[in-house]
Amino acid sequence: MSESQLKMDLVGGDFTSREADLLVIGVYQGGEPQAALVRCGEEVEREVRRALKAGWMRGDVGEMLFLPISVGNGLAVERLLLAGLGKRDGVTLEGFRALGAAVVKACERSAVNRAISLLSLDSHQGIAPLEVLETMAEGAWLGSYRYDRLQSQGKKETPRHRLGRLVFVLPGEKIKPARRILAWVERIAGGVALARDLANTPGNLLTPEILAKKGRELAERLPVKTTILSAQVLAQKGMNGILAVGQGSANPPCMIVMEYRKGGDRPTLAVVGKAITFDSGGISLKPGAKMEEMKFDMSGGAAVFGFMQAIAEMKLPINVVGIVPSAENLPSGTAQRPGDVIKTAKGLYVEVINTDAEGRLILADALHHAASFDPDVIIDLATLTGACVIALGSQASGLMGNNEPLQKRLRKAGERCGERLWPLPLFPEYQEQIKSVVADIKNVGGREAGTITAACFLSRFVDDSRAWAHLDIAGTAYDFSGTRPHMPKGAMGVGVRLLCRYAMTERV
Ligand code: BES
Ligand code: ZN
Ligand code: ZN
Repeated sequence: MSESQLKMDLVGGDFTSREADLLVIGVYQGGEPQAALVRCGEEVEREVRRALKAGWMRGDVGEMLFLPISVGNGLAVERLLLAGLGKRDGVTLEGFRALGAAVVKACERSAVNRAISLLSLDSHQGIAPLEVLETMAEGAWLGSYRYDRLQSQGKKETPRHRLGRLVFVLPGEKIKPARRILAWVERIAGGVALARDLANTPGNLLTPEILAKKGRELAERLPVKTTILSAQVLAQKGMNGILAVGQGSANPPCMIVMEYRKGGDRPTLAVVGKAITFDSGGISLKPGAKMEEMKFDMSGGAAVFGFMQAIAEMKLPINVVGIVPSAENLPSGTAQRPGDVIKTAKGLYVEVINTDAEGRLILADALHHAASFDPDVIIDLATLTGACVIALGSQASGLMGNNEPLQKRLRKAGERCGERLWPLPLFPEYQEQIKSVVADIKNVGGREAGTITAACFLSRFVDDSRAWAHLDIAGTAYDFSGTRPHMPKGAMGVGVRLLCRYAMTERV
C-alpha cells in the first residue's frame, strides 16, 4: 500500500455507547430510512424523519447528508451521515462497494476521525448483512488507495484529512463470520493495491529486472517460492518469443515464476500474466497519442503478483503457480523486425508481421512453460488487444478459452466481485486468419476479430486436454474517468479480486 491503510472494526448488536464522530445510516429513494434507524432511539429517529420529510435529501444513489443531532440524545455521537441508496429494489453489491468508498470520501472532506456504519445491520433487498459488510469494506479500501509516491511533499494536493477508523455494526450472531470476512477482504484489497502500485509505476522505474526483484521480495515475506528465468536461462530453454520482444531494449527480459503450494494433493492452478513494462510497439511503433498509457501493459502480470500475495496472506489451501513473462518492447538497432521468424519454446515457428503484437509472443513461451507444472487449470490475463477495448469498453474483460465449465465459473466469480467477463467465441475457422506463408503461424490475423485471433494464437501454445481461459483486460486494466468512487484514476488492479473469488470458491 502506498499509505497506511484505513482501519476497520466490527461491533455486534449494541453500538450506542461506542465513541465516534458520526453514524452512517442508509436512506432509500423517497426519503425512507433503513430499518436500523430505530436502534438509535426515538429522539434521533424523530430528528431524521423530520429532516427527510422536509426534503433535505431524497435518497438518490451517492447522495450524502450530514445531519447534526442534539446532544444528550442517548448516542455518543453528534452527527449522522445519511447515505443515499437509491431505489429499494435497485440496490446491488457494486452499489455497496461504491457506497463504502463514497462514505470514506465524505468523512475525509468533513474531518471525521471515526465513523460507525449501521448499513450492515439490515438486509437490503436480499443482500445480507455480511455481504453489505464485505462489499462496503472492500469499496472503502479500494477507494482510499492513492498512488502519490512520485509527488514531492510540497506539490501534493492540500494534505488530506484521513478517516482513522470505520466501524461496522452487525447483528450480534454474525460477528464471528464477519471477522473472517473482514480479514479476507483486507488481504484481497492489499493484493489489489499491490497490483495497482506495480501497474501505476512508470516504465523507467519498473523494468523487467525490477519486477523480478519484487517477485523475490514476495518470497522473502510469504510462503511463496520465486524463481527468475534470466535472459540467459530463457535462451537455454529456447524461449525466443520473449527474447525477441525484449531484444530491442537495454533492459533484458525475464520470466518470473512464483509457486504457492498449500493445497496438498488438490489440483494445481497456473495463472499467467503479460508484463510488458512499456509497450512502444517496437519497430511497428505506436502513434504518440496516449503512448504513455502503455506503462500499464504489465497489468496482467501485476494481477498475478497481487493474487499471489493475497492467497499467501490468506493461507488458502490451494496450489498455484504464477508465471509472469516480462519484457520491454522498444525500437532500436537490436530490435526485432516485421518479417522476422522466431522459433518458440514449443517448437512452433512464428512470423512476426507486427512487432506491436508482442504480448502473444511472450505469452506463447509462458503458456508453454506453465504446462511444465502440469496444471489442471490455466488462466492467463493480458492487456492484449486494442480491439477488445473497442468491443467491450471498460465494462467487461474479454473471456475466451477451451473449456465452457471453467468460463462459467469465472463469469460467476466475476459477477460476484464486480469484475465482469464477457465471452467471445474461438471457432476453428478463425485459426485460418493466422496462417503464415513462410512459418507455422503469424502474429497478427488482420483487422477482423482482432481479440479472437490473438486468443487463437495463444490457443496454439496450450494443450487442449488442459482447461484454459484467456482474459483480455486491455479495456479494464486502467481508467482515467474517475466515475466510480472505489476506482481511483489509473490502474484498477483488475483480476486480483476475480482470481481470489474464483480460487476461494473453486479451490482449483
Ligand atoms: N498492449 C497492446 C494492446 C492494448 C491497446 C492494450 C490499448 C491496452 C490499450 C498490444 O500489445 C497491441 O499493441 N496490440 C495490437 C495488436 C495488433 C498489432 C494486431 C493492437 O491491439 O493494436
Ligand atoms: Zn503492442
Ligand atoms: Zn502490448
